[in-house]
Amino acid sequence: MKRIGVLTSGGDGPGLNPCIRAVTRMALGHGLEVMGIERGYAGLMDGEIIPLDARSVGGIIGRGGTFLGTARAPEFKTPQGQREALRNLNRHGIEGLVVIGGNGSLAGACALHQLDFPVVGVPATIDNDAVGTDMAIGVDTALNTILDAIDKIKDTASSHQRAFLIETMGRDTGYLALMGGIAGGAEMVLIPEVETTLEEVAQGLLDAYVRGKAHCIAVVAEGYKPGTQAVADYLCERQEELGFEVRVTVLGHIQRGGAPMAFDRILATRLGAAAARELQEGNHGHIVGLIGNQIALTPLEGILIRHKKLDLSLGELGKIMEK
Ligand code: ADP
Ligand code: F6P
Repeated sequence: MKRIGVLTSGGDGPGLNPCIRAVTRMALGHGLEVMGIERGYAGLMDGEIIPLDARSVGGIIGRGGTFLGTARAPEFKTPQGQREALRNLNRHGIEGLVVIGGNGSLAGACALHQLDFPVVGVPATIDNDAVGTDMAIGVDTALNTILDAIDKIKDTASSHQRAFLIETMGRDTGYLALMGGIAGGAEMVLIPEVETTLEEVAQGLLDAYVRGKAHCIAVVAEGYKPGTQAVADYLCERQEELGFEVRVTVLGHIQRGGAPMAFDRILATRLGAAAARELQEGNHGHIVGLIGNQIALTPLEGILIRHKKLDLSLGELGKIMEK
């Protein structure tokens, strides 16, 4: 193998830049040429491909986002889209590809692998729902952003004796809400994996009030049903009885930005470097992740059959701490 490509795809997150840097520098160190593909699979289908050298990835280790850009590209799911992608890879003499992204992006990598193109996937998503790694790139920094928000909201919540619903991202999983809730000392966590009725939420608020808490913080995963606003409406109707006035803060895309924390820079560097090394050694068709602090390889097909399950025993721990 003489030349490899690297792309970032799907929802961005902190740590993508250090990962591109690691892929590039490790590949160059092994005598490979490196091409950067802009805007993920969209740029791959459109042939937006640029050469990368050691200097092109200088000064980016601490920058959020991805300097290559990213995109959601539904067309890549079609045989025509994949055919265009393969054509551009061949046209640029790219013999192997590192795909950095979440579950969807890794499914795309799997599609290329099934078409016999050498690919290695690196899990990067703040949702932490990709198989093959304990932590995906971006999760730790997003959690720190959530903590910063919870700490600040607690200040104002306590001053006003209010309850706050703080909505976190995570698509269908409650990982960020659960871990943010535990680390932020929230009184309640509402996640899609655990059914919690509106009545139970109201009871939680009442309990916190009766125990003499100055505030009540509920971290709500965006995937929790019936949704943050429905909870807020229900609680507002019962405000007199519950004690706390209720406010809502939706954290949104601030969770995806910002300088990657040390953990994400190191994780991204380890995974990116390992991905380039694997490709160079002709070892492809898998996800490079970190399991038990060791680099681990998981077949890309794993992404099609299972998503990572949330460890609900942590929810029990959180419940004890809420008191
Ligand atoms: P993420 O990678 O963050 O989970 P998406 O789910 O939006 O983000 O996926 C990113 C891109 O990956 C999609 O826009 C599409 O180009 C590609 N992709 C997703 N699922 C598949 C699939 N089953 N087959 C091929 N490509 C896919
Ligand atoms: O997958 C990452 C993620 O941030 C999810 O947590 C969220 O549901 C989604 O992407 C938001 O996507 P978009 O940036 O397209 O609004």
